[in-house]
Amino acid sequence: MPDLTSLTDCQTPIVAVVIPTFNEVENVPVLVDRLQSVLRGLNWELIFVDDDSPDGTAARVRAIACQDPRVRLIQRIGRRGLSSACIEGMLATSAPYIAVIDADLQHDESLLPTMLEKLRKEPLDMVIGSRYVAGGEVGDWDAQRASMSRVATRIGLHLIKADLKDPMSGFFMLRAEVLQECMRELSGVGYKILLDLFATYPRPLRFLELPYQFRARQSGESKLDEAVLWEYLLMLIQKWVGPMIPARFIAFSLIGGSGVFVHMLVLWLSFKGLGTSFLVGQSAAALVAMTTNFFLNNLFTYSDMRLRGWDMLRGWLSFVAACSVGALANVGIASWIFQTHSLWVLSALAGILVGAVWNYAVTAVYTWKR
Ligand code: GDD
Ligand code: MN
Repeated sequence: MPDLTSLTDCQTPIVAVVIPTFNEVENVPVLVDRLQSVLRGLNWELIFVDDDSPDGTAARVRAIACQDPRVRLIQRIGRRGLSSACIEGMLATSAPYIAVIDADLQHDESLLPTMLEKLRKEPLDMVIGSRYVAGGEVGDWDAQRASMSRVATRIGLHLIKADLKDPMSGFFMLRAEVLQECMRELSGVGYKILLDLFATYPRPLRFLELPYQFRARQSGESKLDEAVLWEYLLMLIQKWVGPMIPARFIAFSLIGGSGVFVHMLVLWLSFKGLGTSFLVGQSAAALVAMTTNFFLNNLFTYSDMRLRGWDMLRGWLSFVAACSVGALANVGIASWIFQTHSLWVLSALAGILVGAVWNYAVTAVYTWKR
């Protein structure tokens, strides 16, 4: 282990700055310029973690790395996700201090030397760039975005039980030991890596919030979409139920539950409305429910590896095939238990559980394969 107080003879960079990117090709050179000047005099490295951006961000980073090998790149293929990108970037360094900053210039990079100074001189685990302490500012957010952030903040604070003013921040620096101590338990789902760290670390983190003004984005666009709030909730649920049950299974089951309503609605329309036979109604209902489940799972459960175009047709077919077998297993198991124990609620629940686990496991391998 490097001696953290006197790093003069250690070759490892003292600070690594992890920069998650998706379609930030215009922002990358500007950010690197700014970081090079703000970090002057320190032994540093930059680690870009790019999820194979179609705009050529990775190629731009490589071109810059040609001139300055302290700039590094992790290019992830077929994966998406801000939190998991940050985690992989942080794990890719041996530096004793690790920062995370957005690539779009919305965070104030001039805070980095102060963050390092505080971490080295004071008994702290983490220093956080905060928009909500005196001197900080949210910038020009619309009312909806601002209120969404407030609600998310309130829910998040319940989870972590720390008096953090800006738990939604994606701008911070920590001691590498903090990560090493909890890296295996991090959820890695969604956008909120800071909350994930706070919720996972086994002890209260000693932190300090430094104010900064959240800037407006100049180039490119935000990646916040309909899935972000959902991923956030999923991450909270995951922290709540623990690591034994994967977040995707929880999402899959919630959506499966919604399929029951779709099924009943279609059955009612067909059987009662159109006057079809029960068998026709039931079959149509099952097919429609499987289809809506497929699309919802593609949108939310697998938002990081969404199928598009023709892949979607292939995915839908495999999903329907898997779930049809799942339905048979469900009925088979339930009837079998019912025959031997005649506990109808228990039999039904056991059938549902077996069917759900089957559907989840099979579609995870064949429908949303990497
Ligand atoms: N590798 C990777 N993969 N990077 C991503 C992904 C992804 O799926 N999605 C977004 N990013 C990168 C963006 O390229 C950008 O550098 C950074 O993550 C933030 O994404 P934005 O889309 O700009 O999000 P934002 O501005 O709405 O929110 C950010 O700022 C908030 C305020 O500090 C996030 O970092 C929040 O966590 C943060 O609280
Ligand atoms: Mn941004």
